Amino acid sequence: MSDFRRIEDAGDLSGKTAIVRVDFNVPMADGKVTDDTRLRSALPTVNALRDRGAKVVLLAHFGRPKGKEVPEMSLAPVATAFSKVLGAPVHFARNCGCGEKASAFVRSRPQDDVILMENTRFCPGEEKNDPELAANMAALGDIYVNDAFSAAHRAHASTEGIARILPSYAGKSMETELDALDKALGKPERPVLAVVGGAKVSSKIDLLKNLVTKVDMLAIGGGMANTFLAAQGVSVGKSLCEHDLADTAREILDIAAKNNCRILLPADVAVATEFKAHAPDHRICHVGEVADNEMILDAGPQTLVALEHAMDEAKTLVWNGPLGAFELEPFDTATVAAAQAAAHRAKAGKLTAVAGGGDTVAALNHAKAAGDFTFVSTAGGAFLEWMEGKELPGVEALKA
Ligand code: 3PG
Ligand code: MG
Repeated sequence: MSDFRRIEDAGDLSGKTAIVRVDFNVPMADGKVTDDTRLRSALPTVNALRDRGAKVVLLAHFGRPKGKEVPEMSLAPVATAFSKVLGAPVHFARNCGCGEKASAFVRSRPQDDVILMENTRFCPGEEKNDPELAANMAALGDIYVNDAFSAAHRAHASTEGIARILPSYAGKSMETELDALDKALGKPERPVLAVVGGAKVSSKIDLLKNLVTKVDMLAIGGGMANTFLAAQGVSVGKSLCEHDLADTAREILDIAAKNNCRILLPADVAVATEFKAHAPDHRICHVGEVADNEMILDAGPQTLVALEHAMDEAKTLVWNGPLGAFELEPFDTATVAAAQAAAHRAKAGKLTAVAGGGDTVAALNHAKAAGDFTFVSTAGGAFLEWMEGKELPGVEALKA
């Protein structure tokens, strides 16, 4: 992270306006925010800027309105929710658009104000990273702070274009994300164990190909493990399996072997004939003993023991994706046990455990393990792209 400017480098900001890109793309039901994690994660940055005397203007997207005003995707309810989290008024810039009217509104507000602009994706130029829109956004203030790691995989006007115009800084939660990720894959303490689960190999090919060149051990779980097992000639019955990706799976195993990356695949599994919670005929069996009418729904106890041994060997763990159908009991067993095993070791200071990406946070919360992980990213797609070894445009722009 040393090659980024941080808020501390901005000096005194009295009389100045700081434009802050946050990720307020929060879950919402009936016009109310149902999980305020992302709102709370913006607090350190907003407070630090206000302490330095800045007027704070927040830019955020919500949903995918595709350049049009979609009333259900207004950020108005989010302004109310953020005001509660902040414990101070948040002024919502309604109907200001993205031009001169918006900057006039910001100028008209007092210096101690926190202002939330309307959904950046209502502006047609946002997702096109239109330079004119980026310039209009830049005209709202004096400095730019990006605190939205989870939107940094998008090269949009509010995440990338604007950073090239104004003096730009990483916000506190951006800084925390980047520092944690650097510890996990950038300059990790070895050996590094990656745990990758989830339904499909097809959505994680780039990720797997990158990981096997970087980590010492890779444990593959969830539906995607079936594709690897089948590619090695193991019969997986009617399991979820991408048979057409057998060559890709073998190629990944090949790259792993060339890079001395040890692959851990399930040795035993939980199977059932129906995809259903408490399926009456569920049983544990060795891989290779799955009947034609059965499907693999979780990893088995022997697999778990092997995974825990790998965790004992490892100094660093990076985790994405559940190991089984964790939304159906008892097929959450391996995910819960492995998450708790990792959390234990992290809490005892034996393992740096970092996790992120979509379902992963839900799985770790379900296991009540998230709190003891060293770091759990709030990012979905951005975390995956980072694990794929891709440059994130929002992060790159801060380096310039
Ligand atoms: C997210 O919620 O993952 C980020 O806010 C990015 O949203 P997007 O996938 O619509 O770009
Ligand atoms: Mg997304």
